[in-house]
Amino acid sequence: MSRKVLIGVLVISLFSFNVYAGEVEVLHWWTSGGEAASVAVLKQLLEKEGHTWKDFAVAGGGGDAAMTVLKSRAVAGNPPTAAQVKGPQIQLWAEQGFLANLDDVAKAEKWDELIPKVIADIMKYKGHFVAVPVNVHRINWMWANPAVFKKAGIEIPKTWAEFDAAAKKIQAAELIPVAWGGQPWQEATVFETIVAAKGPEFYTKTMVKADPAALMSDTMIKVLERLKALKQCTDKGAPGRDWNLATAMVIKGEAGVQFMGDWAKGEFTAAGKKPGVDYMAPTAPETGKMFLFNVDSFIMFKQKDPEAAKAQKAMARLILQPKFQEVFNVNKGSIPVRMGMSEDPFDAVARTSMKDFVATSKGGGLVPSMAHEMAVMPAIRGAIMDTVTNFYNSDTSAKDAAAQLASAVKAAK
Ligand code: GAL
Repeated sequence: MSRKVLIGVLVISLFSFNVYAGEVEVLHWWTSGGEAASVAVLKQLLEKEGHTWKDFAVAGGGGDAAMTVLKSRAVAGNPPTAAQVKGPQIQLWAEQGFLANLDDVAKAEKWDELIPKVIADIMKYKGHFVAVPVNVHRINWMWANPAVFKKAGIEIPKTWAEFDAAAKKIQAAELIPVAWGGQPWQEATVFETIVAAKGPEFYTKTMVKADPAALMSDTMIKVLERLKALKQCTDKGAPGRDWNLATAMVIKGEAGVQFMGDWAKGEFTAAGKKPGVDYMAPTAPETGKMFLFNVDSFIMFKQKDPEAAKAQKAMARLILQPKFQEVFNVNKGSIPVRMGMSEDPFDAVARTSMKDFVATSKGGGLVPSMAHEMAVMPAIRGAIMDTVTNFYNSDTSAKDAAAQLASAVKAAK
């Protein structure tokens, strides 16, 4: 090959591989089957635009491990381009001056018109966009295998009293009533779902305002007793179990139900299961009028390299575009955060969620998830989560645990 031809070939291949485009390193914790299929969509869309995706996945549902790794990278002066960070924590990162201003993308793409205001406000720091929302997850679901209920000869329960009766029958049929993932964030997820059954006022007082008097009230004692009662419905393998392995127990018909947010639906979908046929997804007992929301979002770190900044902005833009919102959310089990999307590609569970999101936002039942970092600052969430997990895994009485909740929260405030 002559020198000239060689240079020509090099130039052409440089262009076709887009080596001049930027790289985004993205920290997230989406490593289960359904989650990985969802995040792959974003990677593909970015690569289509010529950018490079450097995956920085830190396994561990709920993201606690990912947040620890993120903090150490940031302290070392080497944060990734984007990171999955949610709720009030966005403000903490922005206050410390880490985050890029995304107002130009937001303006060009009309984010303020496309995202519900309650959610847009969480994404802004001092009125400027510093994060992009991805989806809306609902926490208070009960994922049920109808075949297990059929074997036990009982209906899927709507109240906690019916649930107790069903659990006994499932046990009598030698199956496990509840697929339990024994990790603090999962126990906190079930806990806040039981709190939600007490209505929006009690939920807000305890999980959003962290009011010590409400945290040690008789109602809270009842909530804790209910949580502890679920322990008899679980199996010996529960301690430490990952959430997606608990979902698999329901999918395989080993367990009756799992209480978990609708990322669990992503696992059913990835396993080729159909709602209403292979599995049922009623809201958790007595929480039909509640919508515990959990919005995933990405914060974007300031960039020195202009190409990386371009790739970062492209990522921000793509996240709110209809194509991504549709494919990602169908796989993930969540609903689009972009308003005005067609319901057609979504299944019955997602449609219920869309309808209930609107209804509860009018009826007062739309409340942020404590367990999933939407409601309180990390120190308070940590105090609640530690107390709940210690209670669930010890012989502490519900009354003592309620008092501990109040004092742990006071100390964290
Ligand atoms: C949540 C997150 C979901 C899902 C879940 C389990 O905190 O918002 O998107 O990934 O953890 O990993």
